[in-house]
Amino acid sequence: MKGGRLLLSGLLGLAQVVTSAPTVNLAQSLAIRDEPTKVVSSVPSTTFSDKTIFSPPTDAGWTDPRVLYARMIQLESGALLATWENYSPEPPLVHYPIYQSLDGGLNWAEIGRVTDDVNGWGNRYQPFLYQLPQDIGDFPAGTILCAGNSLPADLMYTKIDVYASRDQGFTWEFVSSVASGGEGRPVNGLTPIWEPFILTYKNQLIVYYADQRDPDYGQKLSHQVTTNLLEWSDPVNDVVTVGNYEGRPGMPVIARLPNCNYIFTYEQCGNDGCRIHYRLGPDPLDFLNAPDHPIRSDKGTRPSSSPYVVWSSLGGGNGTIILSAATTDKIYVNKNLGAEDSWIEFNTPQPRAYTRALMVYRDDPNLLGIIGAGWLPPSAVNYVSNAAIDLTELGV
Ligand SMILES: *[C@@H]1O[C@H](CO)[C@@H](O)[C@H](O)[C@H]1NC(C)=O
Repeated sequence: MKGGRLLLSGLLGLAQVVTSAPTVNLAQSLAIRDEPTKVVSSVPSTTFSDKTIFSPPTDAGWTDPRVLYARMIQLESGALLATWENYSPEPPLVHYPIYQSLDGGLNWAEIGRVTDDVNGWGNRYQPFLYQLPQDIGDFPAGTILCAGNSLPADLMYTKIDVYASRDQGFTWEFVSSVASGGEGRPVNGLTPIWEPFILTYKNQLIVYYADQRDPDYGQKLSHQVTTNLLEWSDPVNDVVTVGNYEGRPGMPVIARLPNCNYIFTYEQCGNDGCRIHYRLGPDPLDFLNAPDHPIRSDKGTRPSSSPYVVWSSLGGGNGTIILSAATTDKIYVNKNLGAEDSWIEFNTPQPRAYTRALMVYRDDPNLLGIIGAGWLPPSAVNYVSNAAIDLTELGV
């Protein structure tokens, strides 16, 4: 859920600032994009935490909160890609930066930008990266998708658009628009949409999101499906707070479990303090009828706000569900396939953040990647940083 946002861009009128990249600039990167991407290592040579990927220049008119809402994935090649909300001075319109790491997350360089090619508003909020595990329509397995929420600077509209990269993240094309909503402020009665998340299931691609367009609910969770990435089904409800208009379920994130269930996590704002809930079920097209659970840890903690969840094969048959929440730097771990009484909390060395994202390294189920980009405004010190943490060293 977003807090109010100050719009300082435009007041500052500073010269355009090129986003600084730590090791190689964008023009150089783009010039070499046709050369094969050589992954040095799919895992880092050492564990680490709070390593800065990007910190905006302090004197260049970046809008508070500067950066926010980071996402990171590992491609089949072993390369990592990261993106985030990027509050660079406007004009030009804001975009989602695409940073790449070829050494498991220790070093990063900007290789591309997902710019708004259709609305004239900017790619402003809530980017999500996803690599297709199978062909969908004319998009072959391996294509990288970036879904995000495009809004104009005055926030009067919201629109979840999907872009695709067929070259590992260097260049991007607009694909289609999933849904459109109204003014982008988290106020009941307004009609925005928020926070897309992508999953593939039975040859369909599903986009889940938070939805304020239904007059019966302050906010609910919905999804739409496609078989070709061009045409989208009507929205289907995933979570609604029946009889309670004030309820605002938000920020859906899903992981597949080895017993063919899916865990669907979300924050329950409005009527439950944004505490994190989850649903477990075999059909990701029908979370509406799946039983709902609170998260309560072994220490009695009820984590809140902006969850992220992943599954690792660490620990045998059930593997390990790992959950992050905004209220703490801890992770919450469940080795019993999501059983309600089995959430154990562990400290991590990566600072808490608004919607910190998780990733399990493909070649090491013990290794958890975390990326964060600070806090909702006011937070003029936000930067993007990541960690690679050995779960067994934490005691998981
Ligand atoms: C796997 O999870 C199930 C369901 O909670 C539980 O009964 C079982 O003991 C777990 N197995 C292991 C090896 O932990």
